[in-house]
Parts: sequence; C-alpha cells; structure tokens
Amino acid sequence: MEFCSARRAVLQLLGAVAPTDRPALLQWMRTTRDFDEFTQDNNDIMLKSIAEDLRNCLPLETMLSSEHLALQKIQQQPEPTVHVDAFLYDEDFIDSLCEEGKMSRNYCMVCGSHQTAPLGFISHSFSLMELKFIYHHVLPDLSGKVLVDVGSRLGTVLYGGYLYSSALQLYGVEMNEDFCQLQEMVIKKYQFTDRVKVLHADICTQGSLLQNADVVIMNNVFEYFLNEAEQTRAWECISHNVRKQGSLLVTVPSLEESLSGLQTNIQLSPWVEEVPLNYDVYPENDIDREALQQIHLYKIL
Ligand SMILES: C[S@@+](CC[C@H](N)C(=O)[O-])C[C@H]1O[C@@H](n2cnc3c(N)ncnc32)[C@H](O)[C@@H]1O
Repeated sequence: MEFCSARRAVLQLLGAVAPTDRPALLQWMRTTRDFDEFTQDNNDIMLKSIAEDLRNCLPLETMLSSEHLALQKIQQQPEPTVHVDAFLYDEDFIDSLCEEGKMSRNYCMVCGSHQTAPLGFISHSFSLMELKFIYHHVLPDLSGKVLVDVGSRLGTVLYGGYLYSSALQLYGVEMNEDFCQLQEMVIKKYQFTDRVKVLHADICTQGSLLQNADVVIMNNVFEYFLNEAEQTRAWECISHNVRKQGSLLVTVPSLEESLSGLQTNIQLSPWVEEVPLNYDVYPENDIDREALQQIHLYKIL
C-alpha cells in the first residue's frame, strides 16, 4: 500500500473508533513501543538476525566448555551469578524466557521458602544499545580509520562497526578458537569480509596491530578470562603498544577500575586523558543507563 492510501486507511480507521475510546487509542499510538519493529533501521534488523543465528549455535548460557577459567570465575562470585549475553538476549527476550520457565531472575535463598533474591547477571558482549551508543555518540567519524577489538568473542563490536561506522578496517583478536570460527561464519554469511578480519591470537602477540590502531576497544576483556599474573602482563602489553598519539581507547569498566587490584607499573596520567561522555543521549526510561556509564573513552597522549 502506498503512503497516501495508507494515510487514508488510518484516518478512516480512527473515524470508525468509538469517540469515547479515541483519546485512549491516540495516546497508545503516541507512546507505544509496539511500532518499534516497523521503525528500526535496516542495520538493527541485520544485527538482530545475526543474534538469532548465533543463538541457534550456542547454549543458553553462551559459554563454551573450553572457557574453564571464565566458568570457574562466575561460580566464585560472592552472589549467585549467571552469564546472559546481552547481544543475544535483550530484556524482552529474558522476560519471555522467564515466563517459559527457561530462565530465572531470582534464586531461592532458603530452599523451599518464598525468600528469594535477585540473581547477578554478567554479559560478556555489548548489547545492541551499547553498540549504538559507542558508534553514534562515543566515537567520532571513523572514515579511513583502523579499529581493533581486543577479545572479539561473538564479534558484536566488528559487526556494529561495519554497519554503524565508516571504519576502513575492523580487526577482532580473540584467543578462543571456537569463537573465532563463529565470527568467521557470520562475516562470510553477511558479507563483511571487505572490512572485517578476525585473528585467532593472544593480544600480547599483536604488538604492531595495536601500535597502528586508531581506535582500540576493550570490553571487560581480561578479568574473567585470565589469572592475575596474565592480566597484569596483558595490560602491560596494551599500555606498551597502544601509544599512537591522538588514537582512542574505549574501555569497560574504567582503566582505574580495570587496573585496581593488579600489581602493575602503568601510570595513567602520562599515557591517557579521559574524554567526558554524555550518557543522557537517550531520553527513554527503559535505557540501561548504568551499563552506558561503564563505558569510558580515553585519548592517547
Ligand atoms: C568480555 S568478552 C568481550 C566481547 C566483545 N569484545 C564485546 O564487547 O562484545 C572478552 C573476550 O576476550 C577474550 N580474551 C581474553 N583475554 C584475551 C587475550 N589475551 N587475547 C585475546 N583474547 C582474549 C576472551 O576469550 C573473551 O571472549
């Protein structure tokens, strides 16, 4: 149906609604999220389709048996915690899984009683909202620039960068081979090969890639996947190689928080300067502002 006839049909429909119900209908049309699926742009739809493909290849907890240390670290959290991948499962999806009894937001504190407490949730991927925030509001125009995602896992930063930015090259470095294979599958299927490359490697072996990058992204890369000595070594390698003047480093959480508790000699003030971010760019109530506030941007001095 063309625009003119569609508009006529909508007005006709409104004319047919009982006058007493019309204000409620108009109010619903102004505020509902039910239209979201019609207004999302093509890139969002593509990312959602990638998420669906990945959901079909991975277990619900989106952790692989090859991730021994990460599985162990989640079990050692002070509060019962589960891994729910925010790229694959958004809030609405989690709600429907809870309704189906496949997931729970609570755990029983005293078995058999009604005393429950909220489960801790950890995500090892950025959500769609976080990716859009990074590419639309954190980073500048990336035309001609090289971006490196340290620990690319499912590849969300790479696909987001392909669709939401003009970056010349997007490199993902991931030490887990199974995740590299999944990324390769997506890159091929969605024809991202001209600008996206995944390297199966420990980031500590990729000095020259880091030295040449214009943007380096680090989403909670090491804490759950390496022991303390390895984390220290990896951060020292990052601070040694990410030195290109004016290049940008995006981290979750802040560098201060990431390095606290590790015995490193890294000095932040001669290395980076934090760039303040506006976390209030999305006025909607259902935005996870806390998640956005974990994102930090630094300029290399
Ligand atoms: C929290 S995930 C980040 C996912 C992705 N960057 C995102 O934001 O959606 C961290 C990933 O880093 C990988 N990783 C940890 N240490 C690494 C290292 N030294 N070299 C390469 N990858 C590493 C882990 O295997 C894990 O898949």
